[in-house]
Amino acid sequence: MKTSTVDQLKRAAAARALEFVESGMAVGLGTGSTVRPLLGLLAERLHDGALKNVIAVPTSEDTARRCRELGIPLVTLGDCPELSLAIDGADEVSPRLDLIKGLGGALLREKLVALAAKRFIVVVDDSKLVRRLGTRVPVPVEVIPFGWTTLVPFFEHLGAVPILRRAPDGAPCVTDNGNYLVDCRFARGIPDPAALARALAKRTGIVEDGLFLRIARVAVVAGAGGVRLLKR
Ligand code: A5P
Repeated sequence: MKTSTVDQLKRAAAARALEFVESGMAVGLGTGSTVRPLLGLLAERLHDGALKNVIAVPTSEDTARRCRELGIPLVTLGDCPELSLAIDGADEVSPRLDLIKGLGGALLREKLVALAAKRFIVVVDDSKLVRRLGTRVPVPVEVIPFGWTTLVPFFEHLGAVPILRRAPDGAPCVTDNGNYLVDCRFARGIPDPAALARALAKRTGIVEDGLFLRIARVAVVAGAGGVRLLKR
């Protein structure tokens, strides 16, 4: 698909997702190229007065910087631990609205924000829809840098091919929280995402994984035929 077409789909999805935002809400704002147009549209509504008294919790330093540039009022999750709504992108969406997130590296803050929200809405173009999680992208796992290589056999035992994410200069990518990311690829997808999430959650050294299971309530999906809502 041409870049311009993908960008148009992302903008259409973002515009539909913005309809869920109401005046007075505290809103979690995700990270990535699909959420980016949403930030611009939200700023426009705030500046023209169509939306009032909206405060936002950003899920990354990148989103925080963009919000500051656009004049979107920010608070921290610590100061505002209950959110009316959170809107974020995803890397894969299953038919039951389970997700893989974190190719943008912000999965830990994204999950904290999503879980703090009464309603979590995922916004994607239809290239992200999969029948089985893990078929299109790896599961990003945020790990403590200290001794991270001790986790490699553990990931392999779970059926993954783990690869440390690196920056273009070859250095390990470091998250906003000072950790590393290991991308765990599963050759034929993930047969039991809940079992995988349980195993990852129990292992020392793993901070968080990119499996967002039973968190999204609504998916706003843009495709060539228009924007549709999927609900769980
Ligand atoms: C960020 O860490 C991710 O979870 C993003 O939400 C995800 O990668 C989607 O990004 P795009 O909208 O850029 O595809």
